[in-house]
Amino acid sequence: MASVLRLEGLRYAYGQSTQPVFSDLNLSVDAGEFIAVVGGSGVGKSTLLRCVAGLIPPSSGRIKLNIKQGVANRRTAFVFQDARLLPWRRLRNNVAYGLRGLKLTPAERDVRIDEVLGLTLIDDLARRWPYQLSGGQMQRAGIARALAVHPQLLLMDEPFSAVDALTRQKLQDELLSIWQRTHNAVMFVTHDIEEAVYLADRVIVLADRPARIQLDQRVDLPRPRQRDSTALQQLAHFVAQKL
Ligand SMILES: Nc1ncnc2c1ncn2[C@@H]1O[C@H](COP(=O)(O)OP(=O)(O)O)[C@@H](O)[C@H]1O
Ligand SMILES: [Mg+2]
Repeated sequence: MASVLRLEGLRYAYGQSTQPVFSDLNLSVDAGEFIAVVGGSGVGKSTLLRCVAGLIPPSSGRIKLNIKQGVANRRTAFVFQDARLLPWRRLRNNVAYGLRGLKLTPAERDVRIDEVLGLTLIDDLARRWPYQLSGGQMQRAGIARALAVHPQLLLMDEPFSAVDALTRQKLQDELLSIWQRTHNAVMFVTHDIEEAVYLADRVIVLADRPARIQLDQRVDLPRPRQRDSTALQQLAHFVAQKL
């Protein structure tokens, strides 16, 4: 299958630091694939995702994005843990803001926005200000803003770690249903192993300093998955041992 992302010998060190955060990372992500990256706090998950997003340049190695750059889409889009909505824009205008620079007629833009607000189940909140949203609703808005640019690779950095457990489960299931409809690849960073195993086709474990890929584990459990199934719990336990 065609890969959308390939990392070759990727290494990153902050500033003058001689100790890299990670080095010699090699990874390939297929079109439409859902991969989760797990690892402890400070291991380098966010740094890796920022490299892939092109927000920071790697110290060495290569990032190959095999994605066509159209005038009406972006190749990747980022969902942050804290949503990062602009407080002075209503929800709808936050989503619209993500579309700036793309070649879309006003009508096309409206269709896009309606589409992603529908996918993330927040159509009825479109006119609210960010301060009028719950944590879960803010995360939905962050996902809507990312989806609106029709990315082929969605980058998510612990997007559900700041919401309560019940909301988190709901958001996980909504994300899976969106993913099954949009067919984009997802690179989902989390420190929660059960979340990774529940969501992903593959779980990548980062550990050590400099961080390396300690495990690249396919998750073959059929979907929809049962969170409390023995098979899922056993796999989570296996992954946890590599951390
Ligand atoms: N801007 C920065 N400058 C220097 N060091 C940083 C910076 N951001 C993160 N780090 C360090 O890089 C390491 C990896 O951080 P990060 O990628 O945020 O880890 P994670 O997301 O896995 O918790 C940590 O040791 C962190 O302290
Ligand atoms: Mg992080």
